[in-house]
Amino acid sequence: MPFGLPSNFAIFSLPAAIVSNGFSINKTVTGIYNSSTTPASFPWNTYNYCNAAHVNAEHYFEPTGNEGAELLYLNVVIRHHKRTPDNLYPDENELNTASGWNCESLHQQSYGGGTAPVFHETLIPSWHPYLSTIWNGTCDAGQLTREGLDDAILHGKDFWSVYHDRLNFLNTVNSEDIHIRTTTEVRTHQVASALLFGMDSATSSSPWPVYTQPESIDSLVPGYPCPTADAVRDAYQSVPVWTDHLTQNMDLKAKLDATLGTAGLDSWAAWYDHFFDTFTARSCHGHSLPCNSSGACIEQEDAQRVYALGDWEYNYIWNAAENATWYTQLTFGVMFYELAHNLKSFQSRSDPYKLRFYVGHDGSMIRLASGLGFGKDGPLRWPAMGSEIVIEVWRTETMRDFVRVIHEGTPVPRLEWVSLNDFIEILERQIPNNIYQTCMGAQ
Ligand SMILES: *[C@@H]1O[C@H](CO)[C@@H](O)[C@H](O)[C@H]1NC(C)=O
Ligand SMILES: *[C@@H]1O[C@H](CO)[C@@H](O)[C@H](O)[C@H]1NC(C)=O
Ligand SMILES: *[C@@H]1O[C@H](CO)[C@@H](O)[C@H](O)[C@H]1NC(C)=O
Ligand SMILES: *[C@@H]1O[C@H](CO)[C@@H](O)[C@H](O)[C@H]1NC(C)=O
Repeated sequence: MPFGLPSNFAIFSLPAAIVSNGFSINKTVTGIYNSSTTPASFPWNTYNYCNAAHVNAEHYFEPTGNEGAELLYLNVVIRHHKRTPDNLYPDENELNTASGWNCESLHQQSYGGGTAPVFHETLIPSWHPYLSTIWNGTCDAGQLTREGLDDAILHGKDFWSVYHDRLNFLNTVNSEDIHIRTTTEVRTHQVASALLFGMDSATSSSPWPVYTQPESIDSLVPGYPCPTADAVRDAYQSVPVWTDHLTQNMDLKAKLDATLGTAGLDSWAAWYDHFFDTFTARSCHGHSLPCNSSGACIEQEDAQRVYALGDWEYNYIWNAAENATWYTQLTFGVMFYELAHNLKSFQSRSDPYKLRFYVGHDGSMIRLASGLGFGKDGPLRWPAMGSEIVIEVWRTETMRDFVRVIHEGTPVPRLEWVSLNDFIEILERQIPNNIYQTCMGAQ
């Protein structure tokens, strides 16, 4: 390893050809991809794909130069924590260890209130004719793991250590003060429950409402249809600046396909997303990178190239491409509307909640980060598991309201102290006019 860094720290370079096309990310990309715990020898807020840094008592500080200001309102958006791979190889079974994935230690509860608290457990019968297409064990694809749940519990503890213990902004964990919204994905509900439990273990004794929007119009994933946006994205993924990165990495793609059996599959060829997902989910859980039945394995340096390409693609699609801003506004405009609506309700004293907590996905985080302008100072990276954006509203002694935005536990440059009105305007600038008609009309 260069610079004598410990072995779980990845430092790698992008192929020169990618770096030269004007949409490059830093030549050297650093990060942790194989443990939820960032080693103490690294800065605490080092990019860790398995478990992002977040607000915590040890590194939190009140807004400087504004002594006497009081925290009055909070909106938080996070990505769920780590899970099994969302994507499956055609011959998934052989590309895992014999034991595969184990999910027995996390009961998948889902039941009609007032009746028996059933949970479901995944069974993969040895006689099943499709056995080759799924790993061994007791997990479904995209399922929150016990380890992911544990990370979410710690996340809740750290949150409480600041917003209760230190600031006393929230007194008790109760559903009059705290509004939680998730997507319709079960793992986001489970993360919500783990966060609450981390804040106060007594929450395990009574049911809690988490709110969802109908899947077909959910603004958080986001899940509402927008054919106009699809066309915009198709266009900027048809130009050389995008297609070049695919042709320039054909050597890598051919190697991955040969080992993983993914040749000729469009969804694995359109981008590196699926490779990124299947490698990181494994390495974040201490599994080895996939090895096929002939004994050929994905090499660490190829995985690292995939991680760099994943970052590059995320930044291109949601932040850097010509028209990426428009795409992000179209596909997340409804969520920007919701956040602006929350803040205006606070302003007019009509929001009964002190905290609105959202548990979403990487697609939620990248759009929010891009829309808030985080990508103006440098490229955005793939939002890590548990990635967090906190919007704090403070009132000064002179009764003026200011917003401070904190990303992965660190205040964001230029959003460290913005008047509430200006911040609402920043959000509103991200909402296309007549968004429904604009999204649906052009096709
Ligand atoms: C973690 O990843 C690094 C590469 O970034 C690798 O060198 C190291 O062996 C991995 N550690 C474990 C425990 O898998
Ligand atoms: C999965 O388990 C079966 C037995 O149920 C075994 O035959 C097979 O080899 C296992 N898969 C792998 C990849 O080892
Ligand atoms: C961006 O949008 C404009 C206006 O629709 C269009 O002319 C241009 O070709 C688009 N650029 C890309 C790279 O798709
Ligand atoms: C395993 O991967 C190697 C290339 O890395 C390939 O040549 C071989 O055919 C693969 N085996 C199977 C069973 O897919």
